[in-house]
Amino acid sequence: MLTGKKAIILGIESSCDETAAAVIRGRELLSDEIISSAPVQAQYGGVVPEIASRAHTDAVDEVVCRALANAGVKKEELDAVAVTYGAGLLGALLVGLSFAKGLAYGLGIPLIGVNHIRGHLAAAYLEDEALHPPFVSLLASGGHTAILYAKTETEFEVLGSTLDDAAGEAFDKVARVLGLPYPGGPHLEALAREGEPVIPLPAMLKGEGGYRFSYSGLKTAVINYVHNKEQRGEPWSRADVASSFQHAALDVLVKKTAEAAEEKRVSVITAGGGVIANGYLRSSLSRMAEQRGLHLVLPPKAHCTDNAAMIAAEGAVLFRARHFSPFSLNAEAYLPLS
Ligand SMILES: Nc1ncnc2c1ncn2[C@@H]1O[C@H](COP(=O)(O)OP(=O)(O)OP(=O)(O)O)[C@@H](O)[C@H]1O
Ligand SMILES: [Mg+2]
Repeated sequence: MLTGKKAIILGIESSCDETAAAVIRGRELLSDEIISSAPVQAQYGGVVPEIASRAHTDAVDEVVCRALANAGVKKEELDAVAVTYGAGLLGALLVGLSFAKGLAYGLGIPLIGVNHIRGHLAAAYLEDEALHPPFVSLLASGGHTAILYAKTETEFEVLGSTLDDAAGEAFDKVARVLGLPYPGGPHLEALAREGEPVIPLPAMLKGEGGYRFSYSGLKTAVINYVHNKEQRGEPWSRADVASSFQHAALDVLVKKTAEAAEEKRVSVITAGGGVIANGYLRSSLSRMAEQRGLHLVLPPKAHCTDNAAMIAAEGAVLFRARHFSPFSLNAEAYLPLS
């Protein structure tokens, strides 16, 4: 790469049920492609790993070709290939990782292994050209819920995380109890819009526990409420349950993000992960940021759920830090944040 030229990076994501590829130049997103096996998985009520792996194998070549074509970039112009190597479903990860290795090796350019969760956090960089640490990040996804302090682009301090279930996992489980289809989060949000938060549910570690969260008690309280009502034959409102759960699950995230920003004396907050696609959470975060004079950087909804633009964005961070991966890099089902 010539000095001063912005790096062109291809990002590939295949950790769960989305096969995705995107191209960025610097922080400019040139293309963003996704082929999802979610409609097929929905027939089974959740992700079947073998179906996901086969779907990635079918889709990966097409999605990468589309990403390059729509970016107007020839593969020979790429400076690096960034790819999710964990955490996720092993068979699914291996499809994207093997493809990325072959491409990077054939082109003689660096391979950059990306931690999927770092990718969720890096999505914010695509939103704001001027975004730079320090800032506080709220991470809320299907497998993670945490508040982090970004010291530099590559160094995060985890201020607190969930003690049990992740926020997205709780949304999915409660959605199932309410008879909503997979993936539960967006369906639960839609149902909540028709209800009111009138059902008393336990306030989750709201005034205690520092920046830690616990969703399992809240989830159990919802399940108990529904079972009690059904056993007694009493009428109950699914929409009110959805709305009450949504408030209880999300208000605490906003409150603790605000506290973390105050403690760390930062003026910028960011957010990432599938739950950040929730409209109620997005408007609550915006309101809180406005009231406190904080600059909030929220990725668009499509960059909150799994996508490859965020993997390319984290790839760019690692490219600048010259954090390249060996071709012996293996897929990891579990991967810590740091
Ligand atoms: N509008 C929404 N409201 C609430 N939750 C949502 C919404 N949209 C998506 N989610 C939740 O986000 C999660 C999916 O996010 P994401 O794709 O980041 O998770 P993941 O990749 O499975 O987990 P992780 O990123 O932690 O490995 C699901 O649990 C889903 O229910
Ligand atoms: Mg994810």
